[in-house]
Amino acid sequence: MRALNVILGLVLLCTHAAAFTDYLLKKCHQAGFCQRNRDYAKNIQLSHNSYYHIDELSVVVDNTTNTLHADIVKTVPREDIGDVVVRLPFTLAFQQDMLSVRFTIDEKPIEKFNNELLTPYRYNETANWSFANHSGVLDNAPLQWSTQEQQQESNALAWLSNIVFNADEEKVMELTTASSDLRVRLFLETCQINVYDGKELVLAINDRSLLNFEHHRTLEDNFQNMLPEESSYNMFADDFEYSSSDHIPFGPQSVALDFTFAGFNNLFGIPEHADSLRLRETLDEEPYRLFNVDVFQYNLNSRMPMYGAIPLLMSASKDRSVGVFWNNPADTWVDIHYEGSASQSHFMSETGVIDVVVFLGDKPADITDQFTHLTGRPTLPLMSAIGYHQCRWNYNDELDVLTVQENMDREDIPFDFIWLDLEYTDDRKYFTWRPDSFATPGKMLQKLAKYGRQLTVLIDPHLKFTYEASNKVKEHSAEIKNFMGKTYIGRCWPEDSIWIDTMGKIGRTVWDSLFKEFITEKLPSFVDNLQIWNDMNEPSIFNGPETTAPKDLIHDGGFEERAIHNVYGLTVHEATYDSMKQIYSKFDKRPFILSRAYFAGSQRTVAVWTGDNIANWDYLKMSIPMVLSSNIVGLPFNGADVAGFDGNPSPELIARWYQTGIWYPFFRGHAHIDSIRREPYLLEEPIKSNVRDSIRLRYALLPTLYSAFHQSSVDGSPIMKPMFFEYPEYSEFYDIDDQFYVGDYGIVVKPITSTETFSTEIVLAPGIYYDLQSLKSTTVDKLDTVTVDAPLDKIPAFIEGGHLLIKKEVYRRSSKLMINDPYTIVVAPTLSTGSASGKLYVDDGVTFEYESGNYLDVSFTFTNNSVLENTIIHEPSDSKTLGNMYIHKIVLATDGNNVDVGKNAKITVGSDVREVTVEFDEETSSAVIRDAQIRIDEPWRVEF
Ligand SMILES: *[C@@H]1O[C@H](CO)[C@@H](O)[C@H](O)[C@H]1NC(C)=O
Ligand SMILES: *[C@@H]1O[C@H](CO)[C@@H](O)[C@H](O)[C@H]1NC(C)=O
Ligand SMILES: *[C@@H]1O[C@H](CO)[C@@H](O)[C@H](O)[C@H]1NC(C)=O
Ligand SMILES: *[C@@H]1O[C@H](CO)[C@@H](O)[C@H](O)[C@H]1NC(C)=O
Ligand SMILES: *[C@@H]1O[C@H](CO)[C@@H](O)[C@H](O)[C@H]1NC(C)=O
Repeated sequence: MRALNVILGLVLLCTHAAAFTDYLLKKCHQAGFCQRNRDYAKNIQLSHNSYYHIDELSVVVDNTTNTLHADIVKTVPREDIGDVVVRLPFTLAFQQDMLSVRFTIDEKPIEKFNNELLTPYRYNETANWSFANHSGVLDNAPLQWSTQEQQQESNALAWLSNIVFNADEEKVMELTTASSDLRVRLFLETCQINVYDGKELVLAINDRSLLNFEHHRTLEDNFQNMLPEESSYNMFADDFEYSSSDHIPFGPQSVALDFTFAGFNNLFGIPEHADSLRLRETLDEEPYRLFNVDVFQYNLNSRMPMYGAIPLLMSASKDRSVGVFWNNPADTWVDIHYEGSASQSHFMSETGVIDVVVFLGDKPADITDQFTHLTGRPTLPLMSAIGYHQCRWNYNDELDVLTVQENMDREDIPFDFIWLDLEYTDDRKYFTWRPDSFATPGKMLQKLAKYGRQLTVLIDPHLKFTYEASNKVKEHSAEIKNFMGKTYIGRCWPEDSIWIDTMGKIGRTVWDSLFKEFITEKLPSFVDNLQIWNDMNEPSIFNGPETTAPKDLIHDGGFEERAIHNVYGLTVHEATYDSMKQIYSKFDKRPFILSRAYFAGSQRTVAVWTGDNIANWDYLKMSIPMVLSSNIVGLPFNGADVAGFDGNPSPELIARWYQTGIWYPFFRGHAHIDSIRREPYLLEEPIKSNVRDSIRLRYALLPTLYSAFHQSSVDGSPIMKPMFFEYPEYSEFYDIDDQFYVGDYGIVVKPITSTETFSTEIVLAPGIYYDLQSLKSTTVDKLDTVTVDAPLDKIPAFIEGGHLLIKKEVYRRSSKLMINDPYTIVVAPTLSTGSASGKLYVDDGVTFEYESGNYLDVSFTFTNNSVLENTIIHEPSDSKTLGNMYIHKIVLATDGNNVDVGKNAKITVGSDVREVTVEFDEETSSAVIRDAQIRIDEPWRVEF
């Protein structure tokens, strides 16, 4: 949430001319480094000059770290005293276990720099945060120079940009590893880096010579240090109205580089933006900006920055994929241009080092897999955290919270989490409870715990100036400092506030102690169901430039905010997670943390959401590409506020938004303080029943969804998955972002996102599709558009033939109460071979015991239109904690004549063979066994 409405008055809210006040944010032409790099790009492509080369004499391979080191030399022509030569240390390495190459370009620390508060070198510890290995160190594969044969072979391939490669005229070094087909060529004279998959060129780096490393210079000698193609716009000053007090102590420091994806005509990734999934051309328009900011009522179809940033750009074709991870947390803009059969990109960051990891793969999922191998796998959440979350700004007091619980139960609407926004605190002081309205939080938590429910409370990184918590932070000097090294004081919810500096170890330790006091000292020892929401951690600062922190603030280690901005939010939520994990270690319980700001690596510890949206159809529609985009860059646990945070949604919109929201990995109802109450039980019929049915469908599918979360925690795979991820071979799918798959379970959904719409068209690959609810089948012969009826109570969703779903169908008040409920298997066979397969993952849904093997992993296969069997992949060490394991119902969907079912089926478990009755349900054309009495965790065979 965001206080712009407080600042601007209620005008926006009342008139509902809702839009973000985007004059508060810079456009590229108002940001010195963005405009300078665009100018440079334009000029250098006209002049064809090259000022960078790799010094061949500097090349050495360190065989202990398997890293190539060299100097990239930047030469600034100068007539008075001769050329200025700047040496930029360059490293390159291939990784073990990945099809990836990482390279870095840094600058030597400044020799004469008289600022005691700031570190004289560029921020180079991003990998400590973004990589799963917090050391930032990777396992590199031994490097090899390629053989002469290989070199000759590849000579013919250097066709890109019409550069005709001639071995005699251009100096090239070519590197490979024994373990893969990845090859890299360094063009020494032009500093171009080509990446090949086998013989094929996949990525050309600096192919357009946009490499620009604004090396250190002073105001006095600036002009002598500029290239003729450079412009000097805002190098030492900032003339943007809201950030004109920026001191810019280092002067220009930007880094920029171009990447050309050869043979690809699409680009995806680099969230967060409220825009299409496939990235748009930015020529003559705004580039995509990555800069974590608070954008209340953000604009749609926009490349303006938002709350989070994941600088992973990816591209795919039918049999090859490539990813580029630009590991830099500074303010960053990315230009995108599609040129024939190539896709071009231009990354521009305000400061920092160039640290890039390139991934190759066959399928787009390979990129997500490797990226999350590098930056960490998505967290496996509490089972309850993938249930329904009920939130509002604000539930007013303990009675209010418990009344919501009571009403949800009375109306048979399941939910697992209830949330407290800002106003539960005593005068907006985090780590306190408002004494009159939340006098006995322990008791309230206990009442919620009865059904396994959790309470999430808001704790933000800004702390009201002068009270216990902020005093403690200041005593330890653990707050963010201003450019003079003094406590930075800005305005946020509690008015004057300071910000915890979790970039530093002291900050994290103090932050941890605040949680420990708040929870272990102030709440009864049995409390294990309090969870945390870190909001406003971009950070949001009401009187700050561009809604956020001044770039000249100083963090631990003497680094400027400018250098670390996009990773700050991650350091806050990771410190929160680490603390909560320790606090709940006595229960061995997984913490749940929601964060608004994020960076690459956030997936390891938190869920996120798409921020302050508006309750209208356009935001509903946009939520789908936004959540998809986050899912493909390794951060699947994301969702949009249902049914729009700000404003009052129509009943129809509410119904449709819940029908969409049940597919978001993170599923939360939330509303602004000024909006009318809209908890599901308050809705009029038939909307109330529609919403109840939607939420119950989510709960029925929890076993399948939880299995999808588990899969994601193993290989990073998306939970809400774009069509082209499932079928990279169909070019038609690359532009589709209003329909999607759910995990690997063959569920394909096309939510209704416009008013008075009662049918829709869905594009499907060849196959048979069974309606998710009615099981009625539709056959598609070739990739085609299918029209689906969608009355208000219907979600256009199918199970694709070849898959198999596991459900729990009994209504319960919460996920915990479902633990002993029987499973239902729904088999959706293909038409051609009459086969289907699926998987189920089960653990206790609460603890970390799965990490030491207490989980069940089982696969199911249906073959030959008749035989269903299971295979136990992993047996739990203590199956008692996993609940009742019985399967009662088996539903075999048919197209009416593809399955020849008798009146009985034969079930074989070990040596025990018995017959069970099969009913044929005419309405759904499915064969149903109602009382199978077989166990999920024991091998069996069912013959229809
Ligand atoms: C960062 O740069 C400094 C100064 O050049 C160097 O001492 C340090 O080792 C570097 N750290 C990393 C993680 O590369
Ligand atoms: C980051 O990692 C490097 C090793 O690569 C280590 O030397 C350094 O201390 C780490 N920095 C922090 C803040 O943990
Ligand atoms: C992280 O470090 C561990 C231990 O050094 C290593 O086994 C693992 O391969 C590393 N991960 C990556 C992605 O390099
Ligand atoms: C290091 O590896 C490179 C590339 O394989 C090789 O050419 C070089 O001889 C090795 N150096 C040493 C000292 O082993
Ligand atoms: C599949 O079913 C057919 C007809 O029922 C039978 O002849 C055949 O042996 C079965 N194949 C397998 C692999 O079970």
